[in-house]
Amino acid sequence: MKKKYTLGVIGGGFMARAILSGAMTKGILSAEEILVCDPSAESRTYFEKCGIDVSADNADAVRRSSYLLFSIKPQTFPEVARALQGQQFPIVISIMAGKTKAGIRAATGAGKIARVMPNLPCSIGAGMSAIDASELPDDARNFVLGLFLSVGEVIETEEDQLNAVTAVSGSGPAYIYLFLRAFIAAAQEQGLRHDQAETLAFQTMEGGLAMTKTSGKTLDELIAAVSSKGGTTIAALQSFQKDNFEQSIARAVAAAAKRAEELSE
Ligand SMILES: NC(=O)c1ccc[n+]([C@@H]2O[C@H](COP(=O)([O-])OP(=O)(O)OC[C@H]3O[C@@H](n4cnc5c(N)ncnc54)[C@H](OP(=O)(O)O)[C@@H]3O)[C@@H](O)[C@H]2O)c1
Repeated sequence: MKKKYTLGVIGGGFMARAILSGAMTKGILSAEEILVCDPSAESRTYFEKCGIDVSADNADAVRRSSYLLFSIKPQTFPEVARALQGQQFPIVISIMAGKTKAGIRAATGAGKIARVMPNLPCSIGAGMSAIDASELPDDARNFVLGLFLSVGEVIETEEDQLNAVTAVSGSGPAYIYLFLRAFIAAAQEQGLRHDQAETLAFQTMEGGLAMTKTSGKTLDELIAAVSSKGGTTIAALQSFQKDNFEQSIARAVAAAAKRAEELSE
């Protein structure tokens, strides 16, 4: 039987807002095809203003939707799952960090489940999502891919790679912000004003990234292109090397992956 809603959402918070806004802007879903369930009146009012139906009862999303998105915090999930036991679940899409398909299935009795690890820039349409939709039939897999393509780039992964993904693109925006903060502070130490330092750092980051994507050169070739013998760049690169910069990044990513593994259940 055709369900009233294409997508039911449990948890109308930050990520749900980002994903639904992208999906509606890109025409993947219209407001009438969505139901959002959240106990928070503030959240329900937000979605009602977008023309989206809302409910305070999560079972509505389970019963009345073709796809169910879990976008609650992982720590809220056990209590939500307990209250939904015995329901017939549609295809589940989970963005909850660290909740495995086996764990979600054991707690809810759901059948087919896709896991997605999105990241913060999804909120401005520049996200990176890794998706394990291996259990889904083609039409459902395409729906999930389309949903997350509406808020950025997508790659498909195996479920056991999602902890590594969490350590790279999930936590990664913070690494970029940290690097930029240090870069700007270093520029100011050399006598530049904050606004000048910010413009130089941001545009250098954007220009550098654009060249890696369009020049057809490898990263080693691009580094070589900026580094003339005996010049300024070489002096900086040698300093980075002395401080074990690359090993420091490897250790940080490994620490995040280990923590993701510890939090998985
Ligand atoms: N934020 C990120 O960058 C990011 C990245 C990747 C993955 N994720 C994952 O995305 C999920 C959502 O994160 P978020 O940042 O969107 O969190 P959030 O803003 O806290 O959203 C969660 C929403 O669920 C609501 N909620 C609480 N109890 C509920 C219940 N019993 N039934 C239904 N809804 C309930 C919350 O309402 P109240 O506010 O009233 O509690 C809130 O509106 C998490 O599992 C997280 O691991 C987030």
